[in-house]
Amino acid sequence: MAQLSHKKIILGITGGIAAYKSAELTRRLKEQGADVRVVMTDGAKEFITPLTFQALSGNPVSDSLLDRDAEAAMGHIELARWADLVLIAPASADFLARLTHGFANDLLSTLCLATNAPIAAAPAMNQQMWRNPATQENALTLKQRRIHLLGPGSGEQACGETGPGRMLEPSELVTAVLRLFSKAAAPAEKLSGKKVVITAGPTREALDPIRYISNHSSGKMGFALAKAALAAGAESVLIAGPVHLSTPEGVKRINTNTAQEMHTASLDMAGSADIFIATAAVADYRPETVAEQKIKKSADTMTIQLTRNPDIVAAVASLPDKPFTVGFAAETNDLISYAQGKLKNKNLDLIIANDVTRSDIGFNSDQNAVTVISAEKHQSLERASKEAIAEQIINIIASAISEAPKG
Ligand code: PMT
Repeated sequence: MAQLSHKKIILGITGGIAAYKSAELTRRLKEQGADVRVVMTDGAKEFITPLTFQALSGNPVSDSLLDRDAEAAMGHIELARWADLVLIAPASADFLARLTHGFANDLLSTLCLATNAPIAAAPAMNQQMWRNPATQENALTLKQRRIHLLGPGSGEQACGETGPGRMLEPSELVTAVLRLFSKAAAPAEKLSGKKVVITAGPTREALDPIRYISNHSSGKMGFALAKAALAAGAESVLIAGPVHLSTPEGVKRINTNTAQEMHTASLDMAGSADIFIATAAVADYRPETVAEQKIKKSADTMTIQLTRNPDIVAAVASLPDKPFTVGFAAETNDLISYAQGKLKNKNLDLIIANDVTRSDIGFNSDQNAVTVISAEKHQSLERASKEAIAEQIINIIASAISEAPKG
């Protein structure tokens, strides 16, 4: 089925060996019913001729900003307005840099500045060029401006090296384009304009300079929630304990170590949050004193005096203008009744009951299965990846806050 009928796509081609794959890409976009107009940079024409694309797209190829004939036919502003999507494939390191800095020194870069249409770029370059901090910073800036970066893929490269920087295959790019159009047609993002603050991971409570009390939380559940909140259009802030996870792109991260640090960071952030989600496995107690030097073994037994840590989620839920507050309950027995107790005692809006006796879910697993509990109802979320569980939890929260205003 032609899923791109009536879609007008500018296919921008920049200089790189992957330009030959764009011939196949043009054919596949046409097969899906798209109206494709190809714009080539001078570099692209060193690798493949405009005639190829004219034949495949059925439209004249544009390659010059200052061409009187071309401007008379369809000027660059007209072309920029015509497009439903500008897809640059391959997008060279040079072009990504020019796009980042708003250059308008050729037809394609000018079109990118002049268009209202979404822009997608499929990077293609040597792996070292892709890994270079300059390119990485450009890529990050472009993503923050909501320019869609499709790929790059990883593997053997034309230069003989191996690594990230390969242009995605034409079939993968067509799938990505279909996804972009279906996303654009989807209803408005559910948490747009909202700020979501999430605690994640364990805390560490020092006994001496080299030892601490902690637990097995990996932070995966909290990081998945931060990613899902961002995807739902929210500003997403992670207050992370000591974990070895990279920050999802676009998410703001605040690193903490101890429960007290996490408490301070959470209260700093919660005042401006619409939603607060506590996935962190916070140590309920910390050693009353921290030895300045390594504790030496002496007697056969040893007693450590512990003192209560502040309850972070309860403190947030007792703020006068509290955000919609969600806790997790990690339980080894009487899951639902303990979770219900925490919902009430901590004054939460929702609690997610998590059975932590199973090794296939919960702590450190890539999967989870939970029960979402509010004062009114229970909802079981069957075992799935933490990303899928996070997406469902975010949807439930979004529906709940659309029914109940903040406060
Ligand atoms: O990090 P992963 O490996 O992905 O594992 C995910 C998880 C199992 C840690 C997570 O799904 C989970 O269940 N988190 C809650 C862990 C926990 O400490 O539960 P709790 O029942 O002890 O605490 C209840 C709630 O109070 C939690 O929201 C907790 O963050 C919060 N709390 C607890 C103590 C404290 N001092 N401050 C808190 O805010």
